[in-house]
Amino acid sequence: MTSTSHDRLLIIDFGSQVTQLIARRLRELSVYCEIHPYQLVTDDFVRDFAPKAIIFSGGPDSVMREGSPRPPKAAYEAGVPILGICYGQQVMMHDLGGRVEAGENATAEFGRAYVTPEEAKLPLLEGWFGEGREQVWMSHGDHVAEIAPGFEVFGTSPGAPFAITADAARNFYAVQFHPEVHHTPNGAKLYENFVRAAGFKGDWTMGAYREEAVARIREQVGDKQVICALSGGVDSSVAAALLHEAIGDQLTCVFVDHGLLRLDEAKEVVGMFRDHMNLSVIHAEEQELFLGELEGQSDPETKRKIIGKLFIDVFQKYANEIEGAEFLAQGTLYPDVIESVSFSGGPSVTIKSHHNVGGLPEKMGLKLVEPLRELFKDEVRALGHELGLPAHFIGRHPFPGPGLAIRCPGEITREKLEILRKADAVYIDQIRKHGLYDDIWQAFVAILPVRTVGVMGDGRTYDYACALRAVTSVDGMTADYYPFSHDFLGETATRIINEVKGINRVTYDITSKPPGTIEWE
Ligand code: XMP
Repeated sequence: MTSTSHDRLLIIDFGSQVTQLIARRLRELSVYCEIHPYQLVTDDFVRDFAPKAIIFSGGPDSVMREGSPRPPKAAYEAGVPILGICYGQQVMMHDLGGRVEAGENATAEFGRAYVTPEEAKLPLLEGWFGEGREQVWMSHGDHVAEIAPGFEVFGTSPGAPFAITADAARNFYAVQFHPEVHHTPNGAKLYENFVRAAGFKGDWTMGAYREEAVARIREQVGDKQVICALSGGVDSSVAAALLHEAIGDQLTCVFVDHGLLRLDEAKEVVGMFRDHMNLSVIHAEEQELFLGELEGQSDPETKRKIIGKLFIDVFQKYANEIEGAEFLAQGTLYPDVIESVSFSGGPSVTIKSHHNVGGLPEKMGLKLVEPLRELFKDEVRALGHELGLPAHFIGRHPFPGPGLAIRCPGEITREKLEILRKADAVYIDQIRKHGLYDDIWQAFVAILPVRTVGVMGDGRTYDYACALRAVTSVDGMTADYYPFSHDFLGETATRIINEVKGINRVTYDITSKPPGTIEWE
């Protein structure tokens, strides 16, 4: 649990796939909220948390099943508004004296549905039913068969006679659909009405967050030294800028240059943080070490493991030189710390071993400072703006820790890296010139481990082929290829072949994820 002076909303997670979206909708309303799995939300937890309102999320279980998830009694006794969604509605009805029917005999409803209003008015529904009905997203097997005493019906759909119910006296609201998803177009309004009824001031702004975070960092760190692995990505950059504001010279950043960076990347990152923002940055020039160890290696996992291990060794070596370092700063974000409710259980398959500095703190006896732990990615960007980082820097596409190594399938050579850097720079320049950069989640070139025959002027060429990759995505977990026009692709291929010596063939990767991954290795 995080301490904050803001009014707090507690989301009890019953395992819905879309619980995080509830938090997103609330953060958009400048309301501070936290998601906690139902197993951890005890009576004491609720009392300590002191929420100003509570939301019960959806979930895959059935309240009819013995031992199915329940909120603690203290939630109902807290005297604050509660909103139950889908499973959250069913659990509320069940607990408060209503009746839920199992899927078999009931009308299951999945996907789009339309809710129409009843006679009685409810402040929660202000701004709803302007068109006479509202589109909502349903996803339920069980349904409420009898509402609890004190509740009234305010909206119905063909499959859910109790689509919207409320006990207005207690400020308990319960809906069968999911207002947090995109397919409930007016859902945000419902959350707005709910938090307004609960008395939230909407004071969760980036300006306020910045001040609080600075105070918290100072309190945690005192007069001790902090080290930070600066990658130049948005998260570590914003974390470093925030820490610098809080503790100035007590922060030292280590920028590990593994020789697998993009064209001019080291110059840009070090230039901005050291020269422009006056941070203490160690530029660890370890290109020879990394490229030497990678020589002759062509297996993707071996390459990743070598880079991951060397990164930690190198970081440790430089960090050891910083006297009195007691803290390690990391740009961990909220989605990384939410303990999601897992019903499937079991370990998931490792597709790629990700490169990070996990495990370092224990190894080095350092304590962690994670000033972005409460933020979503777009909030981190907003904080970056607030801290004065340039817009083009904050909006940069994600770049993986192992860098160009995983965009150079097979064996890495200095020659291939050189060619790849140039081709990538031309491609990104094209994307920026056509105004497409911000529509794309991530774009890059991969150099392929094959040479092909071509003809340029009157001569034969025998050079590398490359693949362009560009995807749209929300979180990198799934992705689709970006639908460039043929003109754009043609123009880009011509530029790369004309401007980059060593490439004579350009292809475009049209694989989505799944089945592909975003990076080539
Ligand atoms: P994949 O290739 O797994 O990539 O579809 C999903 C997203 O993760 C990035 N990525 C990494 N980021 N360390 C990182 O910091 C890594 O080892 C790593 N591998 C992939 C990738 O660029 C994409 O944004």
